[in-house]
Amino acid sequence: MDLALITVAFVLSLGTSSFAYNYTFPEGFLFGTATSAYQVEGAWIEGGKGENIWDRLTHERPDLILDQSNGDVACDSYHKYKEDVAMCVELGVQFYRFSISWPRIYPHGFSYNLNKEGLLYYSKLVDELLANGIIPVATIYHWDIPQALQDLGGWTNPLVVNHFVEYARVLFDNLGDRIKYWITINEPSQICQEGYGNMDKAPALNLSGIADYLCGHNLLKAHAAVYHLYNDTYRESQNGTVGFTINGVWYEGNSTYDDDAAERMMQMYFGWWAHPIFSSQGDYPPVMKTFVARKSAAQGYRRSRLPEFTPEEIEYIKGTADFMGLNFYTARKAKGAEYDGLEVSYSNDHQVESWIDRDWPMTIAPWFGINPLGFRKHLNWIKERYNSPDIYITENGYPDAGEIDDFDRIDYYREHLKAMLDAIYEDNVNVRGYTAWSLMDNFEWMFGYAHRFGLYYVDLTDPQRPRTPKRSALYYKEIVRTRQLTYEKLK
Ligand SMILES: *[C@@H]1O[C@H](CO)[C@@H](O)[C@H](O)[C@H]1NC(C)=O
Ligand SMILES: *[C@@H]1O[C@H](CO)[C@@H](O)[C@H](O)[C@H]1NC(C)=O
Ligand SMILES: *[C@@H]1O[C@H](CO)[C@@H](O)[C@H](O)[C@H]1NC(C)=O
Ligand SMILES: *[C@@H]1O[C@H](CO)[C@@H](O)[C@H](O)[C@H]1NC(C)=O
Ligand SMILES: *[C@@H]1O[C@H](CO)[C@@H](O)[C@H](O)[C@H]1NC(C)=O
Repeated sequence: MDLALITVAFVLSLGTSSFAYNYTFPEGFLFGTATSAYQVEGAWIEGGKGENIWDRLTHERPDLILDQSNGDVACDSYHKYKEDVAMCVELGVQFYRFSISWPRIYPHGFSYNLNKEGLLYYSKLVDELLANGIIPVATIYHWDIPQALQDLGGWTNPLVVNHFVEYARVLFDNLGDRIKYWITINEPSQICQEGYGNMDKAPALNLSGIADYLCGHNLLKAHAAVYHLYNDTYRESQNGTVGFTINGVWYEGNSTYDDDAAERMMQMYFGWWAHPIFSSQGDYPPVMKTFVARKSAAQGYRRSRLPEFTPEEIEYIKGTADFMGLNFYTARKAKGAEYDGLEVSYSNDHQVESWIDRDWPMTIAPWFGINPLGFRKHLNWIKERYNSPDIYITENGYPDAGEIDDFDRIDYYREHLKAMLDAIYEDNVNVRGYTAWSLMDNFEWMFGYAHRFGLYYVDLTDPQRPRTPKRSALYYKEIVRTRQLTYEKLK
């Protein structure tokens, strides 16, 4: 498809807005797009890479993946990274957010047997980006822990902290001269709650109310340790910035009577991760400690299933982020639930029932109803709770079956960018950048290739994995070029 031809179909129009600002993005605001290693790289057993938990899960339990697919080849970005960078150039974005595969660097996760070939791959990707004037933004962990570490408990083993630090050290040593934006970990709720607590992500342990909290405890310490490593050892010479990315779901009380329950859910879903790092008190949210402790006691536990941080650990974790990464997709209605059952689970701990309002448009994904105003409200909630941190939207996007004429995706982007601009201009929320998820269609975890988020379509039946820009690629390109929201209905 010829981008230039379609461009003429787009007219910049502000319409008859009642807003005080003109939909222009602030000076210095950064635009980017994103992928993650397992979702795009392929080459699962090439170049010295070790096995990770997604290799293991998709190979042993293909029945858990909607289309029984896997990331063995995916978009073949391991070989086609130059094409990926060329797409970023075509979009005109300022940065590209990608993730580094831990078992490509240390095949078994332990700090021996450093895989130079894996390091070289990322080094070439970074050089290609920089040669094209694009800022590399690297996520150190996006869900692909080496299987050898998982065999020892993965994130539930406290020693994972040391292994994670040694892995990060190699990255700072070898890539930190060129990478200035680091995200330690992407979406801890999805890692711990969905991967260890239930079966919605690898390693699909299904030990809710136990393994999810252990995972979270070590993950927060591992993040903090890597932040301190950078702050103490690398910041002076490398002068970069280190953040932490949390997935946000806006939980809204079904009525004002339910506002306490919605706030509790915000605290136990988002605050679980944000409170220890971004609040002035540090530690887990008080309501989370209370609710898990109370249920644990009723179940006969001698101590809470939510592990405790020592005062030293609270101080050690507090303040360990230069920015907050927010991934936002969706919202839910919430009300309090009075479960008196004694089964051990996260939902029995939080005592909140939630659902997608039937007035919100649905997407192809069963978890995903559309509510742009929830995005603005979530941004305000963060500003108020955590002293207005610098926020980068590190993911936002829309799933469908892979249409090239993806007008619904364009609507989604427009409405969410508008909600974000409202938050910036009307509410003074500190949002510094925006990342469209995703650069291209890729392996969408349990939904395989059936649900696609790409700005570029990828033909997965063709061994060459050709990429084709969708309408949304053109729309995003226009926004990035003009630095203004094209606020016109396209249908
Ligand atoms: C929009 O507002 C900004 C900031 O006030 C201003 O610099 C810019 O020129 C305006 N753009 C248009 C197209 O009116
Ligand atoms: C997951 O755990 C729950 C609670 O223990 C149990 O009811 C369910 O059967 C388990 N699911 C699978 C697939 O093992
Ligand atoms: C460090 O980076 C900031 C921008 O992030 C820049 O303003 C500053 O000049 C840099 N300092 C050094 C010593 O490179
Ligand atoms: C949500 O609130 C509406 C209006 O008050 C009420 O009719 C509905 O039953 C509530 N939904 C649930 C699940 O409680
Ligand atoms: C990072 O290092 C600076 C300079 O040494 C120090 O003042 C600051 O407290 C450190 N940040 C954290 C969160 O420890």
